[in-house]
This record gives sequence, C-alpha cells and structure tokens, in this order.
Amino acid sequence: MDAFREALGCMAAGRVLDVATGEGEFVETLVGSLGSYAWIVGIDVLAPSRHPGSVFRAERVHFLQVDGGRLGFADASLDTVSISSTLHHLEDVPRCLGEMVRVLRPGGRLIVRETHRGVRGAAQRLDMEIHHWVAEVDSALGYTHNPTFTRREILDLVAGLGLVDARFYDVPNTDRDAMDPAAIRSSEGVIDRYLRHAARLPEHGALRQRGEELRQRLQRTGIQWEPELIVLGRKRRASQGQGGEKRP
Ligand SMILES: C[S@@+](CC[C@H](N)C(=O)[O-])C[C@H]1O[C@@H](n2cnc3c(N)ncnc32)[C@H](O)[C@@H]1O
Repeated sequence: MDAFREALGCMAAGRVLDVATGEGEFVETLVGSLGSYAWIVGIDVLAPSRHPGSVFRAERVHFLQVDGGRLGFADASLDTVSISSTLHHLEDVPRCLGEMVRVLRPGGRLIVRETHRGVRGAAQRLDMEIHHWVAEVDSALGYTHNPTFTRREILDLVAGLGLVDARFYDVPNTDRDAMDPAAIRSSEGVIDRYLRHAARLPEHGALRQRGEELRQRLQRTGIQWEPELIVLGRKRRASQGQGGEKRP
C-alpha cells in the first residue's frame, strides 16, 4: 500500500468520484494521501443514513445516493474515478466500470482496488473463507455479494477498459502478526454480526454452523487480511490509438 499511497501523493486529482463508497473508507485514504484535489464525491446505492462516515463532513467531500450502473454525471466530466473493494458486490461489473470510464475525461485517472483469492497460508485463507461465508449470508438475505475474484479475473475485467500508463500494485497483506488480538476481535465481531443475520434465516442452519466453525478456527490460526490488487491507469486520449495497458 505504501507505493500506492506514494503515487497518490504525486497526483493533482482534480474532480474525484469514489464509486460504491460505503462508509467512505477509501475516501479517507484519498483525503489523507492525494497530493491535491478540487473536491471528492462518494456515491453509493444505499442511503447516507446507512453510511454516516465522518469523512463526508469534511470540507470539499460530499456523498450522493446514486447507482454505480447509472452514474448521472456528464461524459468526460471528472478527473479521477475510483472503486475500492466492491467489484464482487456488483450485479453488473462491466456496466459499472463502463460508466466510470464514460464520466472520466480522456487522460483522467481510474483507480480499481479489489481483494482477490490469491491467499497464502492458513490465516489469510481463513479471512477469505469468512468473507465468502459473509457473501453467502448476504446473498441469502437478498443482497448482491459474490465470492471474490481471482487476480487474473480482475486483470481481465480491467483489460477491457483499454487504459494506458497502467500501474499495478500488489498488496500481499501478509506482514501483520496473524495472532494480533485486535484483528481477531474485529473478525469475531463480523462473524457474530452475520450469525445474528443468519438467525433470521431458519432454513439456513448449515450456514450458521459454518459460521460457528469459522469462529473457532480464528483462535487456532489467527487472521491476516486477503491480498489486494490496485490498478491505477489513465483513460486513453483520442491521439493515443488503440494499444491497451501492459499487464504484469
Ligand atoms: C464492501 S463495500 C465497499 C466500501 C468502500 N468502497 C471501501 O473501500 O471500503 C461495498 C459497497 O458497494 C455498494 N454497492 C453495491 N452495489 C452498488 C451499486 N450498483 N452502485 C453503488 N454502490 C453499490 C454497497 O452498498 C456497499 O456500500
């Protein structure tokens, strides 16, 4: 993440849109790391009352309730557009990415950050399994939440956008102590919240049982967050022809 934050520090980001902003975690990264910006708008399909992130009370940082599949901004009207930890939450990934590229000006920067399945070791595997279990509970409750993509699938999705000057940042997330009590507590909190959700689904007893098993494994293996891939590229200018980005 350090190299990516450094790249953000060199950016004059202008008019910024963060798609599927949730509680604004990635907006906090942008506010804290960008060299400069004119303003940042975070959009989410859910109402702000569900996402009262304090970052949206900062100056020049705003929230709008908008569907990522119909962004409603004019073509080429933004300088930087980002999406973080969300591709696997979308019903129609190509449509949302297509909208993001549409509203971006030629030469503007696109940022795609996504966790993927390239886990190493038992502690990271457990985080992926918890995430996929959470996705199953969400799906049973009627929310779109798919299993995470492979790193290759993310690259294939981004390749279709024809970015230029693309840089790829791999964030392995394996450096933190797997037995860190704060991380274990945080994951227990997630499992307990989702066990309560699963209790509303009496027909899904097996889901609840799996949640209990995952909770017990936490104490044995500890936890490390899933790896992430971040892609930072530019929308091609008409003068730059058809060559897409080089893939790692
Ligand atoms: C895991 S959260 C990501 C939050 C944040 N971007 C981050 O980096 O932590 C996924 C978010 O995607 C939102 N979402 C799902 N489908 C969406 C859509 N079609 N348009 C806008 N937001 C959407 C959800 O409401 C949720 O807040």
